[in-house]
Amino acid sequence: MSRWAWANVDASAIEHNVRALADGSSSAWPVQVWAVVKANGYGHGAVTAARAALAGGASGLCVALVQEGVQLRQAGIEAPILVLSEQPHNELPSAIEHGLRLTVYRPEYLAALEAIDATDVPVHMKIDTGMHRVGARPADAVALADAVSQSPAAWLEGVFTHLAVADELDDPFTRTQLDRFDAVLDDLSATGHRPLLVHAANSAGAIAHPRARYSMVRPGIAIYGISPGGGVDRMVEELGLRPAMSLHARVSMVKRVSAGDRISYGLRHTFDADTTVATVPIGYADGVPRRLWNCGGEVLIRGARRPIVGVITMDQLMVDIGDDIVEVGDDVVLLGHQGAERITATEWANALGTIAYEIVCGISARVDRRVT
Ligand SMILES: Cc1ncc(COP(=O)(O)O)c(C=O)c1O
Repeated sequence: MSRWAWANVDASAIEHNVRALADGSSSAWPVQVWAVVKANGYGHGAVTAARAALAGGASGLCVALVQEGVQLRQAGIEAPILVLSEQPHNELPSAIEHGLRLTVYRPEYLAALEAIDATDVPVHMKIDTGMHRVGARPADAVALADAVSQSPAAWLEGVFTHLAVADELDDPFTRTQLDRFDAVLDDLSATGHRPLLVHAANSAGAIAHPRARYSMVRPGIAIYGISPGGGVDRMVEELGLRPAMSLHARVSMVKRVSAGDRISYGLRHTFDADTTVATVPIGYADGVPRRLWNCGGEVLIRGARRPIVGVITMDQLMVDIGDDIVEVGDDVVLLGHQGAERITATEWANALGTIAYEIVCGISARVDRRVT
């Protein structure tokens, strides 16, 4: 063991979660799951996540960057891979060489494919139905589909959109987006374009909006066993999704401190009473957010919750053990189970005013991922 801090990644949990999402998607007709493994598989390890997702029945994979797709190909993964947005034109030769599917929404991108003499690249046309991040305007969809069909460089395998508020069940905007998307599908169909793969659903869409499933879903966060947001927590629980990542360390030092002593940079925390403090060798450079120290952050040691005391430093943090016995080498769980207690990425996210996505993506490369 090179250091006393690591993350466990339970590949069987990812496999299980994908299977649960695939089953949950199969109500009316077969729906393909293309698992989103961008950003190093949301911090879990892209190759691990991809292999587990495929074992769980995923038909394809989605990435954000060409380089992420290349990494999967270099690991021997042959499944279809879709790059979810347009990329710098100098990346196109590599994307084609590695057999990646491309997202297109601007005629210039198609022209860039033609300029390098690409032939028959499967592309998915992205429509902006209201999130206003990337995508073609609905009014431009038919012209773009015509251009793809007439181009030797590409063929139209898919059409998709992305939902902005799928996890907020009361927000009518999901229906607005899907109405706009359906209108585009009608226009495409009326002009002879019937792409095989039609998709709109992220995790929340796949779980909470049956109408958004079309012929394929693109879940990310849910395959890692994490709810996309408060609105769908209960449905995630009902589906039995299991968190795949846990974060661990070992106690590196134990000491007594006295009432009135202060601790860590800035000496911001003062002890009310004599107590025992354990040091844990993991810090903000590993992705434990520094602000967790003053918003109720806790870790698990010997089956109990222990408050983080003082500012979290780059490589180490301190916890208050009270008068319990703790020894150097004891197991520390930062995210995951210990005994009957559990700390989740969602708990950290809620305390910090962010989302669990940012927590798991933020566990840094310095932390070894051990696939269990
Ligand atoms: C275009 C697109 N589809 C699907 C996803 C997966 O979303 P989620 O992780 O909420 O399931 C993302 C992630 O941000 C995305 O950008």
